[in-house]
Amino acid sequence: MSKRIEVNDLNVYYGDFLAVEDVSMTIEARSVTALIGPSGCGKSTFLRTLNRMHEVIPGARVKGKAVMDGQNLYAADVDPVEVRRQVGMVFQRPNPFPTMSIAENVLAGVKLNNKRISKSDAEDLVEQSLSKANLWKEVKDRLARPGSSLSGGQQQRLCIARAIAVKPDVLLMDEPCSALDPISTLAIEDLMAELKDDYTIVVVTHNMQQAARVSDRTAFFNIAGTGKPGKLIEMDDTSTMFSSPSQQATEDYISGRFG
Ligand SMILES: Nc1ncnc2c1ncn2[C@@H]1O[C@H](COP(=O)(O)OP(=O)(O)O)[C@@H](O)[C@H]1O
Ligand SMILES: [Mg+2]
Repeated sequence: MSKRIEVNDLNVYYGDFLAVEDVSMTIEARSVTALIGPSGCGKSTFLRTLNRMHEVIPGARVKGKAVMDGQNLYAADVDPVEVRRQVGMVFQRPNPFPTMSIAENVLAGVKLNNKRISKSDAEDLVEQSLSKANLWKEVKDRLARPGSSLSGGQQQRLCIARAIAVKPDVLLMDEPCSALDPISTLAIEDLMAELKDDYTIVVVTHNMQQAARVSDRTAFFNIAGTGKPGKLIEMDDTSTMFSSPSQQATEDYISGRFG
């Protein structure tokens, strides 16, 4: 559990369009890395390369390396399906399967991976995953109700439970709180702080306070103009990035002068 990722000279394309240029960064294990930057600079695109979701889009491709504990995720003999099990993802809008119960939602990823699982192991896994997602107490008496019967914040924690049920090493989160109210947002932030003991977490956020609150390291991406590729401008400890960044563009962005 919890692995470090070394990204090396990664270029990310949609067909001929270079969306993200030449990113190199180290994502540390057992920590939260925040990706910040103005809209369109390639944060989501970059994030999706870390579990090979990017290439699902027709014409989309990647050049360069992303090495997780010594294994290049883009090596020819690596199965992208297995990468997606090891590197889970949580999206902006909570997306539980609407026709499935709460318990079935937790098990959905495990079943997709064709794992056979006994009834009692399944029950244990449901409880374990929901407990880790800080949702168990709220739903333990209604596990058979539809996932869609939960509030937005609960649905997002259900999606986190579903993601961790397959025992990934890394969790990618793309603006996981931007559809949530402030209380639910704090619940997810608290959860991230707990989960980083076990997982490597990479979170995209447009909320500077959130990046400052939850992350250990922050990477600032920027874009020179429409049609230009997004680039990693700098990355450092979050406290350094927010107190004394080394690039003027970072300073301008975090102090709210643009973006
Ligand atoms: N499916 C897609 N096909 C083509 N271009 C895309 C696609 N998704 C995003 N892009 C382009 O890639 C660039 C980066 O987008 P994105 O990664 O969504 O930025 P961010 O998450 O930082 O707002 C933008 O120019 C965007 O229009
Ligand atoms: Mg995005």
